[in-house]
Amino acid sequence: LKVDASPQLARQIPDTLFGIFFEEINHAGAGGIWAELVSNRGFEAGGRHTPSNIDPWSIIGDDSSIFVTTDRTSCFSRNTVALRMEVLCDNCPAAGVGIYNPGFWGMNIEDGKTYNLVMYVKSLETVELTVSLTSSDGSQNLASATIPVSGASNWTKLEQELVAKGTNRTSRLQITTNKKGVVWFDQVSLMPSDTYKGHGFRTELISMMLDLKPRFLRFPGGCFVEGEWLRNAFRWRESIGPWEERPGHFGDVWHYWTDDGLGYYEFLQLSEDLGAAPIWVFNNGISHNDEVDTAAIAPFVKDVLDSLEFARGSSESTWGSVRAAMGHPEPFPVKYVAIGNEDCGKKFYRGNYLKFYNAIREAYPDIQMISNCDASSRPLDHPADLYDFHVYTDSKTLFSMKNTFDRSSRSGPKAFVSEYAVWRSDAGRGSLLASLAEAAFLTGLEKNSDVVWMASYAPLFVNNNDQTWNPDAIVFNSWQQYGTPSYWMQTLFRESSGAMIHPTTITSKYSGSLAASAITWQDSENSFLRIKIVNFGSDAVSLNVSASGLPATVNTVGSSATVLTSGNVMDENSFSNPNKVVPVKSQLPNAAEQMQVMLAPHSFTSWK
Ligand code: AHR
Repeated sequence: LKVDASPQLARQIPDTLFGIFFEEINHAGAGGIWAELVSNRGFEAGGRHTPSNIDPWSIIGDDSSIFVTTDRTSCFSRNTVALRMEVLCDNCPAAGVGIYNPGFWGMNIEDGKTYNLVMYVKSLETVELTVSLTSSDGSQNLASATIPVSGASNWTKLEQELVAKGTNRTSRLQITTNKKGVVWFDQVSLMPSDTYKGHGFRTELISMMLDLKPRFLRFPGGCFVEGEWLRNAFRWRESIGPWEERPGHFGDVWHYWTDDGLGYYEFLQLSEDLGAAPIWVFNNGISHNDEVDTAAIAPFVKDVLDSLEFARGSSESTWGSVRAAMGHPEPFPVKYVAIGNEDCGKKFYRGNYLKFYNAIREAYPDIQMISNCDASSRPLDHPADLYDFHVYTDSKTLFSMKNTFDRSSRSGPKAFVSEYAVWRSDAGRGSLLASLAEAAFLTGLEKNSDVVWMASYAPLFVNNNDQTWNPDAIVFNSWQQYGTPSYWMQTLFRESSGAMIHPTTITSKYSGSLAASAITWQDSENSFLRIKIVNFGSDAVSLNVSASGLPATVNTVGSSATVLTSGNVMDENSFSNPNKVVPVKSQLPNAAEQMQVMLAPHSFTSWK
């Protein structure tokens, strides 16, 4: 393996090359990175047309002691459903009767931590409510408080801190009373007090995102943005403002309700917190099953322009002032938007696209626009700065696709490989094999980064209790998380964005199953060389590695080797064995500009 690091053959990789695609899929957001513990906090989960769905809320008591239903008496005009709890018993059980919410497959309540409860309540008569955090059957009390509610015909906002005096991973929130009468509830929220930067995100999941050093965040999804039907598509306007006033919506592609606590503003905030450029994928008037005719698209275009004013406008502008009121007077630097997702070829795609494109170009000339149509092998019939490229395939095909962009035109829009992954039989639930093919594919993207400007794995997250898409890079439940080999593979590409890429040549009888790349980069003090090589085959490969033309500041091929491999190519990680397939770093005693190395079968090695 020869690396020619002479400066005249080096090329800079775009700063944006590797980032993150976050989709609200697999409960990645609701019941995932968004730390809200109450599921269906506004009792709206049936959607606007089914105001009787209180699931997963349930009652404490029986038919003779309590009767629970919903009505439309909420104080919030955009989400009018409230829960009406009628206590029927004259002599209620000492522990009271009431309602409980089990969260998203159980709430993770941890000893010593503070949880902030907020709820809106109305009761015509004075009543005492007991709020508690308990085990899933109510038998273990982890925290509780009694809150008096004065009788009144209007709604009151109640706030209560609860400090846990024990740990239980599958807890629930209970609200009980033993006084006969009627109490209404709405917008019941329970948030841990230690969210990331106080912004509402689950810290340990954000850390895993941060460890990838993502340069961009594509959000809020792919199909999630489209919806099966337009009425269920993600609507930014309904996801901003005070959380209590958000209507929420049913994501009909991935089949679950979200209160939209994680809304457009929070995605922008997340981008900022990750130090990643926001990439806003908006609905372009097209869902999986219905489309808005281009002749009628103008209001949708106006809606997107408003979303951009919300992000970028001054705090005096109409929508910028809404952002400022939410706590962010400084604009969010939205420089990229994707006009729809996977809609190329649909009846009104081109027509709608041009309407969005022209309006955005005029209002925000610096915004880069991403088309859904693949320009990797033929030119587009419409203007675009980037085009979206998605690939889900078997490992052999993805390995061979490392050369896909070698043949692409060097002029025209750049590629955004916004979704790539090995899936189906090769993937297991995240196998080593999948990660090796993906690593090889990424070395090809690095080499072609004159035409490939961005790339992200998909999907990023899965709540283990609701896996609608397999595999995913990060697996979690209410209290645990681990990275699949595909996650760990990405950590070996985190210095690539903005680095210099150098030509590599492999001469070996095994070259058909090898893929390599070499980069150099500098931090404030040192220069580094990283050589990465995938051995996709089942034989160990002995290789002579040499680097020439290195700048004087980089004086060895590398002093450490990091290897991602395992005993079986289908090995994967799990909650019980989260570190079975992770990169293992060791020092290289023989680091030099020429060295003999042995690549393990089915491995991904990186020297630095
Ligand atoms: O990543 C899962 C889905 O795959 C995305 O929602 C969609 O864009 C693609 O079909």
